Amino acid sequence: RTRLIIDTDPGVDDAFAIALAALSDDVDLLGVTTVFGNVPLSATTRNASRLLALCGRDDVPVAAGAARPLVHRHPREAGYVHGLDGLSGRAASLPEPSRELEPVDAVTLLANLLDAAEGPVTIAPIGPLTNIAALLAAHPRCAEKIDRLVIMGGAIGHGNSTAAAEFNIWSDPEAAHRVLAGGEVPCVLVPMDLTYRCAVSAEWLSTLAATGPVGAALEALTPDYLDHYRKALGWDGIVVHDAVAVAEAIRPGTLRTERAPVAVECSQGPGRGATIADLRRRELREETGTAEAPSAGIAVDAELDKLRDFLFER
Ligand code: BDR
Ligand code: CA
Repeated sequence: RTRLIIDTDPGVDDAFAIALAALSDDVDLLGVTTVFGNVPLSATTRNASRLLALCGRDDVPVAAGAARPLVHRHPREAGYVHGLDGLSGRAASLPEPSRELEPVDAVTLLANLLDAAEGPVTIAPIGPLTNIAALLAAHPRCAEKIDRLVIMGGAIGHGNSTAAAEFNIWSDPEAAHRVLAGGEVPCVLVPMDLTYRCAVSAEWLSTLAATGPVGAALEALTPDYLDHYRKALGWDGIVVHDAVAVAEAIRPGTLRTERAPVAVECSQGPGRGATIADLRRRELREETGTAEAPSAGIAVDAELDKLRDFLFER
């Protein structure tokens, strides 16, 4: 069984990721923490609680975290991708949770859950990395309890928020730099290059909707997201970025990873938020003196049809 905590900014693809973990019998979902990102924190927090209620998981504690990036004052959201409420205008159609929010902030809940856990815990950060950077800074002892961070984020080729940067990293590059360069915890980075290859079609969504109330509710959250991805992909489908990362978190080895040095561009220039993964041959890295830089596992490939089937079945 995998002990798992999800740090999230729901978000339509976050909804699929939360459902994947919440409905998997082989996962101990210890908690869900929220962060600003796709929409403001109040909306991501409400969405996370309602999504857990949809999955019948009011037993899972939820705590709200950072409302803005570590260094910069103003978050920049992605309502144009996910709809202004984060869920294609359909958040209100989800059930009201019966459980109250935790009376502590996300960083405190993360630290408490890690302290109490009986063994190593996987964290899947699928939004900006602000809460995770704050956790590592404020509670360094927690690093030993974290088995690994399976992070949805980064772009090896072009980005989505800018030509260079993927949204989660671009939303708080300083936090991403803190987490990836800190070296306290093993990281797997699941970049958009791979998640795009695991897009699912509108037909896949309709088939999912026919499986029952949760499938139908998830499909109902996708109209605005489909509109966006029609432009991004050029066909009728969506990218479930965050669910790809959570699949790896709950079933290690689902994605093929390559270990490589990775740096986050924190300048104010056009490269801000870029993830520079050094996937050159090790011999060349050694020759040019970068082989020992902080590194992460970069997810580069997967058996895509099997992965789509896995998401569907769960
Ligand atoms: C990431 O950005 C968000 O919009 C999605 O939820 C995902 O976490 C993809 O770039
Ligand atoms: Ca997300």
